[in-house]
Amino acid sequence: MKIAVLISGSGSNLQALLDSSVRENIQLVVSNKASAFGLERARKAGVPTHSMLKANYSSRDIYDQAVADYLNQQAIDLVVLAGWMHILGARFLDVFQGQTINLHPALPGQYPGTHAIKRAFEDGVDRTGCMVHRVTLEVDVGEVLGVSEVEIKPTDTLAELEERMHSAEHRLLVSVVEGMVKGVQALS
Ligand code: GRF
Repeated sequence: MKIAVLISGSGSNLQALLDSSVRENIQLVVSNKASAFGLERARKAGVPTHSMLKANYSSRDIYDQAVADYLNQQAIDLVVLAGWMHILGARFLDVFQGQTINLHPALPGQYPGTHAIKRAFEDGVDRTGCMVHRVTLEVDVGEVLGVSEVEIKPTDTLAELEERMHSAEHRLLVSVVEGMVKGVQALS
């Protein structure tokens, strides 16, 4: 199984994948930000990188098509959105629907979109979580492949909650992707 990881920022979730057994499946890291620190992490691990900036394309559709075409040319089987801050539309999903998964820092059905951790923290709830789901046209909705609950302690600062969330995300993402890779190996 050939995996591409798509990132926009720090890439700590990418790092968790690079440190796991699926490292050998990771063919490529794509960023939509040239300055994303995750690109450094990929280079350090010897994984090819590619930056694709939306500003270089005339429309969202053309950009989404270009991302799909590029991943197709690389014969990618599984696309992992790990902190990828761009909503991929129909032009992309027509090619990769079912083969694209996303990590989101909230429980299924809760806090779709950006700043999910902060929104849960400000709501004063005592638990939140993270999930990995298949990507559909609707943002942060789609078949749920894994969930991890995260406690919010009364004494937590936002930074403490974010740290706990990121640890849970790293474990969850690795376990879902490892499971998918092993599932495919078992079928062959
Ligand atoms: C994660 O919290 C992810 O769920 C969210 O963006 C963050 C990315 O972190 N969508 P990193 O770039 O993997 O460190």
